Amino acid sequence: MRLRKTLLVSLFAAAGLLAGAPAAVAKTFKVAIGDAAGGTQHHFGLTFAKLFAEKTGGAHKADLFPNSQLGSEEDTVNNAAMGLLDFSILAINNITPFSPTVGVLTLPYVIQSAEEAKKLTTGPVGKELAENTVRDAGVRIIGWTYSGFRRLTNSKRPVKTLEDLQGLVIRVPKNEIMIATYQAWGINPTPMAWSETFTGLQQRVIDGQDNPYITISAMKFYEVQKYITNIRYIFSLEPMIVSDQVFKSQKPDVQKAILDAGQEATEESYRYLLASEEKIRKDLAARGMEIVDPANGEKAWIEKAKTVWPKFYKSIGGKDKLDRVLKELGR
Ligand code: MLT
Repeated sequence: MRLRKTLLVSLFAAAGLLAGAPAAVAKTFKVAIGDAAGGTQHHFGLTFAKLFAEKTGGAHKADLFPNSQLGSEEDTVNNAAMGLLDFSILAINNITPFSPTVGVLTLPYVIQSAEEAKKLTTGPVGKELAENTVRDAGVRIIGWTYSGFRRLTNSKRPVKTLEDLQGLVIRVPKNEIMIATYQAWGINPTPMAWSETFTGLQQRVIDGQDNPYITISAMKFYEVQKYITNIRYIFSLEPMIVSDQVFKSQKPDVQKAILDAGQEATEESYRYLLASEEKIRKDLAARGMEIVDPANGEKAWIEKAKTVWPKFYKSIGGKDKLDRVLKELGR
């Protein structure tokens, strides 16, 4: 009986092959997300998943795993490079260690508005950086999440000046540019994986960190942080990457669906940021966070931070790369 069934299955399979019918294997792709659900990364993921399913006529789908369930953001780059993970949505600063040229987008005070962030990422600079990540890190950027400027939070006191900052233990990602920036501001920050940051704040191992309003809210940092300083030193860009191995193993129509869904989700991410950032800022204040502006228009912060630029010319691919970015921004 069992033999007859096996024979029948083989006959059907052979008939399919002879007829040239493709073996349509539906696949569910895994998408790692660094932040908790409810933030910009998750919104991008939901948009992408919906579009991707639509564009493949429901043949493929993308499942989301928020809150670093599939590992720290850095781990997801490694895993995707090895083809062990399909997609990840993570902060650009956590890709820089693997593909240093993307650091040009994290140099402090280069990007000065959401419009500039969009212009750079969707223009020739973004295209070149995306190609570099394939070459350097084995992952392909297929879309960009726009999360807003990274604001400083802490549990100890309102920080308006660089003097106020002194003595605070501030967590930064394991990112040389961000470490150097805090050093230029006079303190030695503590590099720590994103997945460990909430616990670090809760257990008071660190006093503060920086991330955009929407991320502060999604991660419920208002439970463990009291003060926000409205600095605007880095605009948080959070690309969606696909494992290049996984991407190349897809048929052209699936590759196209991935790229198109990524592009459309990028547009939606921009709309979402503009529509929600102010509401979320107000919500954080309503939850008891005290939000202050840096004194004197952030002048001292900007001046000191820009002194780190030359230290990174080499890693971003030369000073001319920064000049090109500034030129594209009309500066
Ligand atoms: C970080 O601070 O490591 C990241 O920017 C957090 C994030 O992915 O939202």
